[in-house]
Amino acid sequence: MAHFAHARVDLDALTSNARLLREHAGGTPLMGVVKADGYGHGMLPAARALIAGGASWLGTALIGEALQLRRAGITVPVLAWIIPPGEPVGEAVGADIDLGVSDRAVLDEVVSEARRLGRTARVQLKIDTGLNRGGVSAADWAELTEAAARAEDDGHLRVSGIWSHFACADEPGHPSIGLQLSNFHEALEIADKVGLAPEVRHIANSAALLTLPETRFDLVRGGIASYGLSPIPDFSLPGLRPAMTLRSRVALTKRVGAGSGVSYGHRYVTDRETTLALVPLGYADGVPRAATNKGPVLLGDRVRTIAGTVCMDQFVLDVGDDRVEAGEYAVLFGDPGETPGVPTAQDWAAVLDTIPYEIVTRVGARVPREYVGAGS
Ligand SMILES: Cc1ncc(COP(=O)(O)O)c(C=O)c1O
Repeated sequence: MAHFAHARVDLDALTSNARLLREHAGGTPLMGVVKADGYGHGMLPAARALIAGGASWLGTALIGEALQLRRAGITVPVLAWIIPPGEPVGEAVGADIDLGVSDRAVLDEVVSEARRLGRTARVQLKIDTGLNRGGVSAADWAELTEAAARAEDDGHLRVSGIWSHFACADEPGHPSIGLQLSNFHEALEIADKVGLAPEVRHIANSAALLTLPETRFDLVRGGIASYGLSPIPDFSLPGLRPAMTLRSRVALTKRVGAGSGVSYGHRYVTDRETTLALVPLGYADGVPRAATNKGPVLLGDRVRTIAGTVCMDQFVLDVGDDRVEAGEYAVLFGDPGETPGVPTAQDWAAVLDTIPYEIVTRVGARVPREYVGAGS
């Protein structure tokens, strides 16, 4: 494992973000979404830090992730929502994990596992209100809710939640938002008619939590915003703090003459005699190869652009005549509130035509996470 590079994760930032999001949502309970290794920040430390800030639920994509939280002794309610065939549904029921159910076959499997174990499974029925991804289609909603109500009567099921997910909440004013919300209200009415009384109804992700108060219901699911990043490029909530800083020490510097081709393919050529600085992070560490001649990196007192091709383990910066020495830190992204001028994950997303989610979740396993803050 590298010791010269790390993704530094500020746990206090996570805790304070959770607190801020709860406040912003008028006290609506917050689910900290910690799937994908806590968006690359480390699932367990992130979960604990978000709970410390008032997150009373956790959300994961996979049952395996939810089980990891339970094995670590985390007892808050956890919802896991992607359940392909062959997943350990029985183990999840035994570990008191809420299961996001998007179709009848999964509902039947959950009920049969609950019966086998002599337990009451907690299920959150997901309605597809227009994302056309997970969730049961509106046409099958009545049948699913009726089947769930019957299983509740038998004592093997508790419908703890009804929920959905937005397609375009990160595009304020998008016409699909109102439509999805009205479909959600309709689905809730149908569920109510068959006698379901869920503890939580929820549809808001970070974007909705931040900008659409009418979508809060009983719970808001804060993913990217919990990590201090905005899902909407030109919107930010004052006080949110990016929790991850990705940095590496410079491995070596060298002087080269004018006209020197740099890195594979010589896609960058020096226009004068200059100093090159080698930064030992590459695409195997999550620095996209597409950042070739594009990625912004703070080194010394200036943001520089990656010179030439990003390799598997390294890239190069052209620092001109600035004094830069091996051992100095080059910072790819971080929190400008802490390090003025540092690029953000959003800056990386902008130059790569992607979203900050992809920038933080792709930081590779070879890059150690270094935790700072109260919970570290
Ligand atoms: C179903 C579901 N809910 C909530 C979230 C959290 O979204 P965000 O990170 O935009 O808050 C995700 C993330 O992809 C998701 O898939």
